[in-house]
Parts: sequence; structure tokens; C-alpha cells
Amino acid sequence: MDAFPPLQTDRLMLRLFEESDIPELVQLAGDRDIAATTLRLPHPYSEAHARNWVEETNRRFRENESLELAVTRKSDGLLLGAAGLVFNHEFDNAELGYCIGKPFWGNGYAGEAAQALVLHGFDQLNLYRIHAHHFAGNKASGKVLENCGMVREGVLIQHIKKWGRYHDIILYGMLNPQTAS
Ligand SMILES: CC(C)(COP(=O)(O)OP(=O)(O)OC[C@H]1O[C@@H](n2cnc3c(N)ncnc32)[C@H](O)[C@@H]1OP(=O)(O)O)[C@@H](O)C(=O)NCCC(=O)NCCS
Repeated sequence: MDAFPPLQTDRLMLRLFEESDIPELVQLAGDRDIAATTLRLPHPYSEAHARNWVEETNRRFRENESLELAVTRKSDGLLLGAAGLVFNHEFDNAELGYCIGKPFWGNGYAGEAAQALVLHGFDQLNLYRIHAHHFAGNKASGKVLENCGMVREGVLIQHIKKWGRYHDIILYGMLNPQTAS
């Protein structure tokens, strides 16, 4: 598969991760508040974790398993976070995920990145459905999904155990408005 031409939004450029992202990635992903509302992000987060992330997201892209991108700010190239789609080709669907570094919260960046991926997933990749989930307490994440047009589909009660506590998981999804019957 060829290199991915970055997705552009008003303020953002979403591109594949590069080795040069590793130092900023360690800083952003190492924040405890980021790990607290994500399922699989290791904490503490080392340079080896960041290197593995860069290599694995590029491998998964090449093998068409996912499109997991660095969210960067157009004006200065700064790495803000990550956003991506993980494909289930058998069912023509994908799971949307995103994460924005704490210093950049509250600027609409997650919403802008999520919206770009939803549009790309439906218009360019012809996905039939995109879904997502978040920890029940993560109200900002629910808002990001609703702003993308996703509908709350249900709750998995006490489904996840994180740092010794059980959490409800809220499920969201939407169908491709152009192809869904
Ligand atoms: C969740 C997260 C991605 C939000 O990133 P962000 O760039 O600050 O999000 P945005 O600014 O695009 O949008 C946040 C929305 O939530 C709203 N919001 C923020 N805090 C809120 C709260 N406590 N209750 C309700 N809504 C809230 C904002 O008003 C905004 O909605 P609006 O645009 O309609 O006003 C970010 O906090 C994050 O990365 N957290 C850690 C990792 C994570 O939880 N990832 C998601 C896993 S499902």
C-alpha cells in the first residue's frame, strides 16, 4: 500500500506517525489523565512504547488493518494527539478512537479530527458503519461522538476493570448515510 496522503481540516493535518514523533508522544501519552480513560494505553509510558506504537500503526496501515494517524496542528506542525479507524473488513465497519494531549484539551481538536475520519471512512473507504465507545465518566468523549452524528446505542454495565475499579462502557455508532438502507 502506498504512503497515506494526509487528511486536512481547517486547523489540522492527520498523517501517519513518524519516528520523529517519539519524544512528543512520550510526553503526551505519558500523562496519567490520558491513561485513565483509555483501555490499552500503558502507564507509565516509555520511549519503547512510543517506538512500538509508531512501528505498529505503520505496519497496520500497510496491511490495511487500520488507519491510525498523528493529529498535528497545521500552523506549527505540533503533535496534538492521535485518532484512527480500526477496520473489520468482514462487516465493512470500523472502530473510531482518538486521544488529545492534555495541554490541548477544550479547543475542539478531537471533534475536528474525529469528524475528518468519519467523513474519510464513509466517503473514501466506503465503510457501512463506524462505531466507538467510551468510559461512562468521560463526558467529553461522548460529546465528541455526538457532534460527529453518532447515536448512543447502549451501555455495557461494569464491563471494564481499570486500575482495580469496574467501569460502564457507553457504545456509539452510525451508518453511512449514503449507503445504508
Ligand atoms: C476526550 C478527549 C479526546 C476530548 O478532546 P478535546 O480536544 O478536548 O475535545 P473537543 O474540544 O473536540 O470536544 C470536547 C467536547 O466535550 C465537551 N465537554 C468537555 N468536558 C465536558 C464535560 N465534563 N461534560 C460534558 N461535555 C464536556 C466540550 O464542550 C466539547 O463539546 P462542544 O464542542 O459541543 O462544546 C480528550 O479529553 C482526551 O484525549 N482524553 C483522554 C483520552 C480519551 O479519553 N480518549 C477517548 C477515549 S473514548
